[in-house]
Amino acid sequence: MTGVAIIGLQWGDEGKGKISYLLSRDAEYVVRFQGGANAGHTVVLDGRELRFNMLPAGSASGARPCIASGTVVDLDEVIEEIELLKSIGIDVKPLISKNANVVLPVHKELDEMIEKLRSRELIGTTRRGIGPAYSDKALRIGIKIVDLLDPEVLESKVKLLEDFHKLSIGDIEKSVRIAEKLSENTCDLEIILNEALDEGKKIVFEGAQGTLLDIDQGTYPYVTSSNTTIGAVFTSCGIGPRKISEIVGVMKAYTTRVGAGVFPTELRNEEGSILREKGREYGTTTGRPRRVGWLDIPLLRYSIMINSIDWVALTKLDVLSGLRKIPICVEYDVDGKTIRIASPNVKMLEKATPIYSYLDGWPDLGREEWRKITLRGWDALPENARTYVETIENLVGKPIKLVSVGAAARMEVVK
Ligand code: IMP
Repeated sequence: MTGVAIIGLQWGDEGKGKISYLLSRDAEYVVRFQGGANAGHTVVLDGRELRFNMLPAGSASGARPCIASGTVVDLDEVIEEIELLKSIGIDVKPLISKNANVVLPVHKELDEMIEKLRSRELIGTTRRGIGPAYSDKALRIGIKIVDLLDPEVLESKVKLLEDFHKLSIGDIEKSVRIAEKLSENTCDLEIILNEALDEGKKIVFEGAQGTLLDIDQGTYPYVTSSNTTIGAVFTSCGIGPRKISEIVGVMKAYTTRVGAGVFPTELRNEEGSILREKGREYGTTTGRPRRVGWLDIPLLRYSIMINSIDWVALTKLDVLSGLRKIPICVEYDVDGKTIRIASPNVKMLEKATPIYSYLDGWPDLGREEWRKITLRGWDALPENARTYVETIENLVGKPIKLVSVGAAARMEVVK
């Protein structure tokens, strides 16, 4: 069995796009299984930054992109990203589950409206219509891709949706035109994926957002509207848990968060601004500055535990270069009690005082020096950088097998 799942362990933006690209190079399929165009997954190839919102970033490796039933699909994005793949010489037909729900213009309008109603308690969504599309799905009034291809069904569904929202749902004709264009791509994805796995083909399941943004397991209500954790692979793709042989967690060497919500290790000072600039921490989808903080082990332990992570890919280690000391939050103090594993309960996290360990830093290295290190391998990393990685391994109890030290694909070290 060769199902490999990639799961973000923090609040998204961990660098899953690059890791998915690396792990998809020998895969038959790479699958987006939750979320929609709120995701912004990048891969840097030959100096060019490729941004994917709807197709899995792993498809830049040539693996066939798939979009599973549990996603909410922005059809315009699919068309744009097919062209993006063509521009790098990949002419491929993505496979799209006919059961996936579509994001309509009305969902984006509602996303704006709900944020305005919240006024001081903004979630800070990506405004991509994700929450409203998922809530229509849960209300059983959503429109699936297959519905766009059936005029009679569509007419009654559009009426129901408009009656419910008391709003026009927007240019449905456009959605129909795109769905027709993609009609050869829509399929019973579950059957294709199960058969491929049974034949021993490798499939990568590319998670979007991160564990702490999961609607059930994250820092609710400051979360996205889907399950971002391992269970979503099974429910969205119709794959049984035994068909996944490897679960890879991706974490950044520090922590970031976009949008509102509790963040115990957040840096609200100059040091945070320096890390933000150095790590180019601005949203791929929205361009918003990301909030930045130190590594948070109690939350990572939780993420690793609930996803049954086998091994970890650590990204952006290079961004921490040049610091004299690097703090790692190893535990919390909450009302005098020590917390080792933190469930993302907002009230508890608001009271949490991080307890830090301080590790020695390593010199600031230029890109060229990092490139040489990637050619020479793990032992070529500065000793204190290796100690940083090994300390994290010990703290979370899982091996870190891949360390990324630059955005480009090849800027990584296999441990
Ligand atoms: P939504 O998914 O657009 O509804 O946004 C809900 C929350 O999830 C907001 O805090 C967003 O900033 C965050 N979010 C959604 N997608 C991503 C992502 O791909 N990376 C990081 N944060 C995200």
